[in-house]
Amino acid sequence: MPVPSELLKQAAGIIGERNIVTEIADMEPYSHDEFARKYIAKMPGAVVKPATEGEIAEIVKLCSRMDVPVTVRGGGTGLSGGCVPSDDCIVLSLERLNNVLNVDTDNHTITVEAGVTVSRLHEEVEKAGLFFPPHPGDEGAFAGGIVATNAGGARAVKYGTVKRFVLGLRVVLADGRIIQLGGKFIKSTTGYNLLGLMIGSEGTLGIITQVTLALLPSPGVLKTLVVPYETVEDAIQTVPGILKSGIVPLAVEFVEHSAIRCSERLLKKNWPTHDGSASLMVMLDGSSEDEVLGQAEKLAGVMEEHDALDVLIAESKERQSDILEIRSMLYESLRPGMVELFDICVPRSEIAGHVQFVHELERRYGIALPTYGHAADGNIHTHSMRVKIEDGILGEEVPGWQETHEKVKAELYKDAARRSGVISGEHGIGLVKRDFLAQNLGDINVELMRSIKKALDPKGILNPGKVI
Ligand code: LAC
Ligand code: ZN
Repeated sequence: MPVPSELLKQAAGIIGERNIVTEIADMEPYSHDEFARKYIAKMPGAVVKPATEGEIAEIVKLCSRMDVPVTVRGGGTGLSGGCVPSDDCIVLSLERLNNVLNVDTDNHTITVEAGVTVSRLHEEVEKAGLFFPPHPGDEGAFAGGIVATNAGGARAVKYGTVKRFVLGLRVVLADGRIIQLGGKFIKSTTGYNLLGLMIGSEGTLGIITQVTLALLPSPGVLKTLVVPYETVEDAIQTVPGILKSGIVPLAVEFVEHSAIRCSERLLKKNWPTHDGSASLMVMLDGSSEDEVLGQAEKLAGVMEEHDALDVLIAESKERQSDILEIRSMLYESLRPGMVELFDICVPRSEIAGHVQFVHELERRYGIALPTYGHAADGNIHTHSMRVKIEDGILGEEVPGWQETHEKVKAELYKDAARRSGVISGEHGIGLVKRDFLAQNLGDINVELMRSIKKALDPKGILNPGKVI
């Protein structure tokens, strides 16, 4: 059933005709997210672009009255189909809610509308001499989106993921009522944690319109170590030693050089070393050069004890940003030949075992499964590829990749469960992992989630078919 014309007529009365899109060509960008395969894409019935929370509430009231589903959309940078239109829905885009409302240097908070991008958020925070540690890979993501997916990124080891920084939210509920959750304070034992419920709810429980985030004092000095190892297992096995040293890095990433070659080629930039087959990338922060160099020296000792082949330190801002760029573009460089990117998360002591298992699957099924990830978070990115990879070049298609992919996915998810892990650490469940949720968490958990969904969205109009 298409979106009723009466709804569009009334919506035009609220936000103006020019903020409603119904032409197929103009709606195409809203039909998908950044998930590699387009088979999940779907055209919405219409895209609406309100500019205020009040307009959102009015539109949601209309949708509730007429039983029209609403899929809320942020920057569209997700990797799990969370903002891909549901059947016969309107897409409610937050792109016009893009005001930075205030940076509060007394309370160390920033309050923004949900459509402010991560790059703008970081800019505003830096301008105030403060620090917002979470750095989800894609800076085009929106503030509302990183809360709705509880995004992660590399810089979570020391400071945690987005949820740790969310102090307050304003939310439009499924019937159009507006609520404030939390505020600018650190503590609350005042009732159930509804704020926590909204974080990671992927547009299924409410529409986040405004976000207040906690900020930290700026650390001042950042340095990046790149440390090559003979094998990826050697690299990963260093991580517990790093954390036992008493130093908590901002980020500890592991990468295999075979995947790094793809990103180097794409960017025409060089990773600092090609010794061995894998590297750790460690980011350190502190308030002075001496403090950070002291940390680096201590860690170099730990790494050498664990058979590091070398310890390289990048000090200049440019060199550090080149390294981070090569790391961040791994996904883009593999994407043209990719079937799916996984983001399994296990206790960090289980990572080496899980990566060994990935290598075993590569041998058993004869496909490339380039793997890297957030080593100290236990968060692993394995890419199921439909093509061969040779020296950083994506080659010919592997026959039968579809069936192989399904088998590999089932094996990986089983291994995650065996190691007491979860199928998604930072990309969310969305559409593409939905059918595996109960297997991972158990039926009781999913039943409880359904009850919560029913309580908050009895008509089931908010992003139906996602998560549960
Ligand atoms: C990364 C994204 C894919 O870590 O999560 O690069
Ligand atoms: Zn990641």
